Amino acid sequence: MSPTLRTHNEESPTGARLKRVPTERRQIVAFATRLTKKSAYFSHSSIKFLPKMTAIEIRKISLDDLVPLQEISRQTFQETFAAYNSPENMKSYLKEALSIEQLTAELEDENSAFYFALQNEQVIGYLKINFGAAQTELKESQALEIERIYVSKEFHGKNVGQLLYDKAIEIAKQKGSEYIWLGVWEKNSRAIRFYEKNGFVEFDKHLFKLGDDEQTDLMMKLKLNR
Ligand SMILES: CC(C)(COP(=O)(O)OP(=O)(O)OC[C@H]1O[C@@H](n2cnc3c(N)ncnc32)[C@H](O)[C@@H]1OP(=O)(O)O)[C@@H](O)C(=O)NCCC(=O)NCCS
Repeated sequence: MSPTLRTHNEESPTGARLKRVPTERRQIVAFATRLTKKSAYFSHSSIKFLPKMTAIEIRKISLDDLVPLQEISRQTFQETFAAYNSPENMKSYLKEALSIEQLTAELEDENSAFYFALQNEQVIGYLKINFGAAQTELKESQALEIERIYVSKEFHGKNVGQLLYDKAIEIAKQKGSEYIWLGVWEKNSRAIRFYEKNGFVEFDKHLFKLGDDEQTDLMMKLKLNR
């Protein structure tokens, strides 16, 4: 009989050795059991702590959404710019540019469109695009302007900005636009990088007034392949 097939009941001149075999086996089994329990614990806890991967919905905004639109607009504007501007200038911008009256007028403009990004019905970002006369500059009929693309800070880097951006591209293609353009504050490095990686190139600069502070926006454009 081959030594590997012996059991601990067998007699052998090297009994001690034979006894060690089952001991080692028990240790191996015990170790394997601990390991299995441990990995089961880890996999269980990983599942428990994994963020819920719920789908993001992009939905057109109507006048009924005015209040959540104002909320997400104010929240994201503050998150993005409060650290770089005086409280007075922030307050005056929020009061004028993001008032219920102003947002109502923009929602009613047939040359503008707004879209929410939602997760579990919670608004986590939004997009505003302009065509024709609603564009803040240029106003060329074959162009589409991305005026605002804002995502809640906790959702940056999670593809939400990209989904809103993709919606703008989809609409621009449906409308037969030749190019998309936008203005972005020259110090907003994250947004500039986001547009650059989507193929935008700088073509001009313009002034943007935040309260009494004049800031420089880079104007960027992307030619569309139709
Ligand atoms: C602009 C915005 C929609 C982009 O969405 P996002 O999910 O943050 O975009 P991504 O993470 O895919 O891309 C950001 C890029 O900037 C990079 N980045 C991050 N911080 C940066 C910084 N301080 N400087 C330069 N690049 C930076 C990221 O690494 C990433 O590039 P990569 O994919 O090559 O690594 C989002 O950041 C946002 O809502 N910002 C606040 C509002 C805003 O500024 N809107 C634009 C107004 S014009």
